[in-house]
Amino acid sequence: MRKAELAVIGGTGVYRAEMLENIQEVDVETRYGKVNLLLGTCEGRNVAFLTRHGKGHTVPPHLINYRANIMALKELGVKKIIATAAVGSLNEEMAPHDFVLLDQFLDFTKTRQSTFFDGGVQGVAHVDVTDPYCPGIRKFVFEKARALRIKVHQGGCYVCTEGPRYETPAEIKMFKQLGGDVVGMTSVPEVVLAREAGICYATLCMVTNYAAGISPHALTHEEVLVVMKEMSEDISRLIMATLAEMPVEMECGCLPELKSM
Ligand code: HPA
Repeated sequence: MRKAELAVIGGTGVYRAEMLENIQEVDVETRYGKVNLLLGTCEGRNVAFLTRHGKGHTVPPHLINYRANIMALKELGVKKIIATAAVGSLNEEMAPHDFVLLDQFLDFTKTRQSTFFDGGVQGVAHVDVTDPYCPGIRKFVFEKARALRIKVHQGGCYVCTEGPRYETPAEIKMFKQLGGDVVGMTSVPEVVLAREAGICYATLCMVTNYAAGISPHALTHEEVLVVMKEMSEDISRLIMATLAEMPVEMECGCLPELKSM
């Protein structure tokens, strides 16, 4: 099978690998299940493109096989992942149509397989998440965005809910008091598993709406998709510029693959 050093995990609204050439669809077998993804090239670099919600957005956030996805990328040799995510905003300064590069998360998920180290053969390990999102990738993407004149907030705290329902205004009020900036349903455990696997990982969020109770109207998935579509050209430009030039090895401080204890 072809290898890849870089990967894109496309979230809601990012389903097409238009930034890639020489595309081939493959199934990667892992101990957690089979993963369907695309392999391609961008400026001569080998890139994997994985659609988080599956073809046609058929897998809801709480049923995504996060472990298989990250393991498949690991098996392909991926060293750096740039993930996209549609988010609601709790922070008036992060308006719809803005991009946010996350630096922290608050985990409100409930039912997910959130580690490779669940005892048994894999053993037990405790990963450090002081810097869950790779500072090296974040810095690179931020500078690329500035060069392309795309507005990106450098840093933001992501509240990860279980979904698939959206939040109540009371929950949003609480998340805001706790320090959350944006809310979504998928960054955890994806970011944690990448950290356990020793893969540098960053998330580029697209703010599609103000969260429940801040927005003057009820939220719909259609609204999210409309704003995502309006942002799609900038997402493609930014990701393509990143894939073309981001160093595969960098002094970012991220740690190698975790070994069980
Ligand atoms: N809440 C949760 N997930 C989301 C939202 C939201 O407001 N917008 C886009 N994804």
